[in-house]
Amino acid sequence: MAKIRTRYVCQNCGVESPKWLGRCPSCEAWNTYVEEVVDPQQEKHAEARRLSGATEKPLSAISITSIESIEENRLVTQDVELNRVLGGGIVPGSITLIGGEPGIGKSTLLLQLALSLPQNTILYVSGEESAQQIKMRADRLGALNPRCLVLTETNLYQIFKQLKSIKPHLCIIDSVQTLESPTIESTAGSISQIRECASELQRYAKESGVPVFLVGHITKDGNIAGPKILEHMVDTVLQFEGEHHHAYRLLRTKKNRFGSTSELGIYEMQQSGLRQVTNPSELLISENTDSLSGIGIAATIEGMRPLLIEAQALVSKSVYGTPQRSSTGYDNKRLNMLLAVLEKRCGFRFGDKDVFVNIAGGLKVEDPALDLAIVCSLLSSFDDIPIPPGSCFAGEIGLSGEVRSVNRIEQRILEADKLGFKRMFVPTNNKGLDLNKFGLRLIAVSNLNEVYNHLF
Ligand code: TYD
Ligand code: MG
Repeated sequence: MAKIRTRYVCQNCGVESPKWLGRCPSCEAWNTYVEEVVDPQQEKHAEARRLSGATEKPLSAISITSIESIEENRLVTQDVELNRVLGGGIVPGSITLIGGEPGIGKSTLLLQLALSLPQNTILYVSGEESAQQIKMRADRLGALNPRCLVLTETNLYQIFKQLKSIKPHLCIIDSVQTLESPTIESTAGSISQIRECASELQRYAKESGVPVFLVGHITKDGNIAGPKILEHMVDTVLQFEGEHHHAYRLLRTKKNRFGSTSELGIYEMQQSGLRQVTNPSELLISENTDSLSGIGIAATIEGMRPLLIEAQALVSKSVYGTPQRSSTGYDNKRLNMLLAVLEKRCGFRFGDKDVFVNIAGGLKVEDPALDLAIVCSLLSSFDDIPIPPGSCFAGEIGLSGEVRSVNRIEQRILEADKLGFKRMFVPTNNKGLDLNKFGLRLIAVSNLNEVYNHLF
């Protein structure tokens, strides 16, 4: 009998070593090496290959012109937001990974997808929930689809057997961390298991043309758990994010071989599942804020979508020696920078003031065009004068207090116009912008002092 051999695998990056190491020389993480048994029986690999339907093809290089082009025949779902982030529907034979915090709604999103395609047979494999639990969830989501088949299984070979007999149009695996391939001796969720299962599923998807969705857990720093190679293997990586206490959920594309990565889907979590939000700006702006100080509306772009959001600021006298600066949904460092610019360039004294900034709706926005609205809400709260109603802002602030140009300005203006804003502050530097072309009044500003004189 062959001697059992073991190896040590870094659970952070997947590097292997014949002996245990305290610190991984590749990713420099501490205490991540776990012992795994190397199975000498290579024929198990062959069995996995046979079960996943792989065939040995003769290998030869061919000219690109002689490759047959296939018509892109995407499966267009009823979920407009999902179609959008996938680049226009599900590509046959593609493999999509959806990552996100526990409880954010990954299983809900995919079960909803499975239930919304009555023309197709869908295999929903769950290694996390029992069939009854899935049924309970499905009952809440509404109309049931008899062609949605549920399998609670974690053994990859059993899953392949089912896939072979059912021949579904779509396969959903919740989650890749629960899968176990008998080829590998280590436990489910370990680096080698994830790597092996994902590569078998990838082979299955490519050979059979059945699209596969994988749910992936994330680690505490927000990356998808398992080896980085998992993200390289799949065609599309989607990230589902949002604040637990808020209803909004964003579906972002992190990688997409079949479309743009700057797409964004917006959902609202309700009693009966996820609802698509087609017109987010109206929900993100509260109605009766006209007479309050410290509120500025920013015309931002998230992905490719214009989004008008409400920036709120509170500037109050500090009780303690060290003033507090705190922000929710906005980068704290950037807030400190804006405060320094206001001190140095415009002469406002924030040194003895506590400053709080909040982006309404629990969104995290990274668009630099938000700066101008943040600064205006800070000034409004500082002086306790409300910003005139019907105003909105788009502009990045530079270190010398200048208002810098922003991308896609026309899209922002059209969205603000659509929502009934009367005037919008835009950077002078945005070249080629016709100020009189739009229905609302555009005020071009080049620095913060100009903005202040206009507003207060
Ligand atoms: P779930 O899809 O189980 O999250 P994940 O698979 O990402 O871990 O989502 C669970 C959360 O969604 C749970 O906290 C309750 C909420 N939820 C609703 O509010 N309404 C619903 O109809 C459903 C199904 C879930
Ligand atoms: Mg789940």
